[in-house]
Amino acid sequence: MIPDKAPKEDVFHGSEDLRRNAHVPSFEKYKELYVQSVENPAEFWGAIAKDFFWKSQHTGRFLDYNFDVTKGEIFVKCMEGATTNICYNLLDLNVHERKLGDKVAFFWEGNEPGDELTVTYRELLQMVCQFSNVLKSQGVKKGDRVSIYMPMVVELVVAMLACVRIGAVHSIVFAGFSAESLCERIMDSQCSLLITADGFYRGEKLINLKLLADEALQKCRDKGFLIQTCIVLKHLSTDPEALVSSHSPPAKRACPDLEVPWNPDVDLCWHMLMKGASDECEPEWCESEDPLFILYTSGSTGKPKGVLHTVSGYMLYTATTFKLVFDHQPDDIYWCTADIGWITGHSYITYGPLANGATSVLFEGLPTYPDVSRMWDIVDKYHVTKFYTAPTAIRLLMKFGNEPVQKYKRKSLKVLGTVGEPINPEAWLWYYSVVGEKRCPVVDTFWQTETGGHVLTPLPAATPLKPGSATFPFFGVVPAILNESGEELEGPSEGYLVFKQPWPGVMRTVYGNHQRFETTYFKKFPGYYVTGDGCSRDKDGYYWITGRIDDMLNVSGHLLSTAEVESALVEHKAVAEAAAVGRPHPVKGESLYCFVTLKDGLAFNQTLEAELKKQVREKIGAIATPDYIQNAPGLPKTRSGKIMRRVLRKIACNEKDLGDISTLADASVVDQLFQNRCCSAV
Ligand code: WTA
Repeated sequence: MIPDKAPKEDVFHGSEDLRRNAHVPSFEKYKELYVQSVENPAEFWGAIAKDFFWKSQHTGRFLDYNFDVTKGEIFVKCMEGATTNICYNLLDLNVHERKLGDKVAFFWEGNEPGDELTVTYRELLQMVCQFSNVLKSQGVKKGDRVSIYMPMVVELVVAMLACVRIGAVHSIVFAGFSAESLCERIMDSQCSLLITADGFYRGEKLINLKLLADEALQKCRDKGFLIQTCIVLKHLSTDPEALVSSHSPPAKRACPDLEVPWNPDVDLCWHMLMKGASDECEPEWCESEDPLFILYTSGSTGKPKGVLHTVSGYMLYTATTFKLVFDHQPDDIYWCTADIGWITGHSYITYGPLANGATSVLFEGLPTYPDVSRMWDIVDKYHVTKFYTAPTAIRLLMKFGNEPVQKYKRKSLKVLGTVGEPINPEAWLWYYSVVGEKRCPVVDTFWQTETGGHVLTPLPAATPLKPGSATFPFFGVVPAILNESGEELEGPSEGYLVFKQPWPGVMRTVYGNHQRFETTYFKKFPGYYVTGDGCSRDKDGYYWITGRIDDMLNVSGHLLSTAEVESALVEHKAVAEAAAVGRPHPVKGESLYCFVTLKDGLAFNQTLEAELKKQVREKIGAIATPDYIQNAPGLPKTRSGKIMRRVLRKIACNEKDLGDISTLADASVVDQLFQNRCCSAV
């Protein structure tokens, strides 16, 4: 699977300096460890597990599984029978055993430059214990689900780890999602409590989060689901009383008080609750396969899937991938620009870094605010050594040229990473040569909410890099490429990317719907986990992700389901039918191009177009706002009535070569759609 020899030409290598102390210093070492990890996962992961605290040891097989639907129920179990607590491993162990209490866990950098806060491991532990006691006092017990809808603040990490400490299951909803999306997620996972904040700024824009949270809770109530408690952090407040928390020094938060509506029957003030809470809290010892968290990701049927991860496997996997993929060293300052509301933030801001006792930057703001140099300003300010961002951010900044980057020194940088979507070689090379000054390897990490951590990725000192390729599998991961008939392809080939066996961090089920888990990931090709991504392998064995091959699109690194967008559009009273497709976009990767057929007699105009965009934004969130909406008196369909999206994708791009359209019921529809194209979409 892994080539005997890495190619020598047309590749980029990590620096000598990096190789000297690296955890995996050469391609040969990588290959040796890879073979061990795949042939004897129990030994490989067992050795890693020794670095963690186990209240009791596992009794079952180290990794037990069935990946074949024809042989029975799909399951994955890692270290069954062992008991532990991740929060204890991330905080108590670092403070008490590894003596890292005074080490900085997070440098929090607010939206406004100069708005900052430093939190050590000891302070974080104290805050987490206090908030654990707060949750307990509100009746939250082991196994209960808690919904978290917060901006990028330290208290978000505190809230999630407090859940983990008491064995509750967090379900974080990205603060860019709409009230409707929050309501849907709260109800699906039957959360008993919501944690939110008054509001926050994204650049110059004020987001009144509490209003959205209130609206979501009202929608839940309307549907017969009652949340009794909502804990509200006053993030924008300058009122010292409101900021009292014995362990979090008031930040220089320059924003005015935000007046939020307050419902005394439901709302509780975070700061008031923390004031009286003890900072000692015995962790709840959890079983390896107890649920850890639920995180929703788009599903091709339109309804988001609650991806469930469990305790021990996820801990081992995120800790190990973080350590090796970023080659973490004790004096590193690491910065991942993702939001904790996505899996990248879960695995590589909270769990992986804290498990390694790392110091991270936690950034609330935008790469373009107050100007397009902000990222490099922060890199210099904190002397960031390892930097992890998304291709869409790189492409966006690239448009402004080299000067905003070169204004800053960036001498501290050692490793650069990307995640979320395929990175085009041009953006890769710009990142490598301009941002990293040809000194820092770029690790293009391919993975999914479902995989828990990196699955195809270079290791910075070991893997010769090819721009645009996620290179080779991480330890324990066995990829294959299948053709449409499910046959494994050897050598250079292109097809479906699948995995043949589990690794500790793979998802365990779709919350409340195991059948959907089996159908989505295991049914198409029995015996394999199907990623939904297309992939090719070159003559040197490198893997190249070609993008989604299901009804999903990737806008700025965020997965969206076309079905979800379509159902938001048809809920509008004027719309009879809708079809959404992706259209290549120079910065966002893909943008949404929608076709709508109106009900009889209704006319399409700009007001309706604006209403439809608003409708999608309100139903799903700003990330799903369509770029284009085209009037489609008819849609291209097969005789059996199936919409031919392939044809719509071509129309969206104004590509006249439609290939075989003999199955179209009415070919005249196509000419009409070409004529009606959105004129701004050249
Ligand atoms: C895409 C994000 C190419 C892919 C961690 C995947 C990538 C989906 C890469 C998962 C990459 C992520 N190269 N494509 N390096 N990383 N993707 O669940 O289509 O938000 O299936 O997890 O993003 O998105 P998700």
